[in-house]
Amino acid sequence: MTAMASRGAIFAFGVALLLATHARAQVNVIKFGYSGDSGPDKWGNLSQEFAACSQGTSQSPVNILKEINGSVPYRKMMPVQGDYIDPNATLVNNGFNIALRFNEKVGSIFVRQKKHELVHMVWHTPSEHTIDDERHECMHEFPAELQLIHLSEDGGIAIVAILYKYGDDEDKLLLQFKDQLSQLAQQNCSSDQETHIPIGVLNTKALRRQYTKFWSYTGSLSTPPCTENVNWIIVGKIREISEDQVAALQAPLAAEYKNNSRPVQPMNGRSVFRYDLAKEKRITNGYYDDD
Ligand SMILES: *[C@@H]1O[C@H](CO)[C@@H](O)[C@H](O)[C@H]1NC(C)=O
Ligand SMILES: *[C@@H]1O[C@H](CO)[C@@H](O)[C@H](O)[C@H]1NC(C)=O
Ligand SMILES: *[C@@H]1O[C@H](CO)[C@@H](O)[C@H](O)[C@H]1NC(C)=O
Ligand SMILES: *[C@@H]1O[C@H](CO)[C@@H](O)[C@H](O)[C@H]1NC(C)=O
Ligand SMILES: *[C@@H]1O[C@H](CO)[C@@H](O)[C@H](O)[C@H]1NC(C)=O
Repeated sequence: MTAMASRGAIFAFGVALLLATHARAQVNVIKFGYSGDSGPDKWGNLSQEFAACSQGTSQSPVNILKEINGSVPYRKMMPVQGDYIDPNATLVNNGFNIALRFNEKVGSIFVRQKKHELVHMVWHTPSEHTIDDERHECMHEFPAELQLIHLSEDGGIAIVAILYKYGDDEDKLLLQFKDQLSQLAQQNCSSDQETHIPIGVLNTKALRRQYTKFWSYTGSLSTPPCTENVNWIIVGKIREISEDQVAALQAPLAAEYKNNSRPVQPMNGRSVFRYDLAKEKRITNGYYDDD
């Protein structure tokens, strides 16, 4: 048991480091932002390492077309199941976003028959992915998006994105570290520093569900270095979050990072695939319901 746990910890730490140090090494030197001279349209020019941000042709986020012809039904896809344990977690202010990191191996999802381990999760406000309404009149953005970043053993990246709308229900995941989040806001963190606060064992019940309705496409990391070939899973069920919770996620961040969503990127001929177990055989009205 002890040996298993520590091997898991080393693995999770190793892959997290792979992703985190790569991003952080650049960030310490090259500061990217969400407006002005270091804004998203300039990322590709901030560093050679960020070239994919401007030269890439399959970037994220994207606008999802809700209309039936906006995506391709893909019957070979399988429900995505988050098989996670309740991990010992640390709340992190990366300067440009708020994240949770895990001090042990958390669990995995299978995407394209390959196992991908959860390494960390980040929040963006407002949402990065948008969903078009039926009449293509607006790209509807949501107040928040949670991204669960998974890595496969050979370095493949799969990200599950959960969109939030304002509602009466508070998000149960965020409720668990409400105090630590406000503690983080008390600390003065400039955008090139990171601060963390241990939160102990996190109940991941809210994430251990089976996703039977989602959109999937191939994109990139939505922050520099904008690495491509990322398998994105955009969960169809929109969850609820309170206005106070969104404010709490933004509070620890400097003004220029409170809105930390990259604008939607061109599709360049890419397809968005949709999977819906329940409606597989009876898509009659041509549209998705909201939940
Ligand atoms: C960005 O870099 C490319 C090539 O390195 C250059 O052609 C282009 O003018 C630069 N754009 C800006 C806005 O600096
Ligand atoms: C989808 O496309 C097909 C053929 O391209 C067309 O016949 C159909 O009316 C379209 N459906 C909707 C809902 O736009
Ligand atoms: C969680 O991890 C931290 C850092 O590794 C450690 O100090 C702490 O004791 C752990 N807590 C639990 C409940 O395992
Ligand atoms: C943070 O900075 C403010 C002023 O900018 C200062 O009043 C406050 O004491 C600082 N807090 C900490 C924890 O350093
Ligand atoms: C963030 O964006 C919203 C609109 O989406 C805007 O009302 C608000 O002023 C922005 N906040 C900052 C700090 O830029």
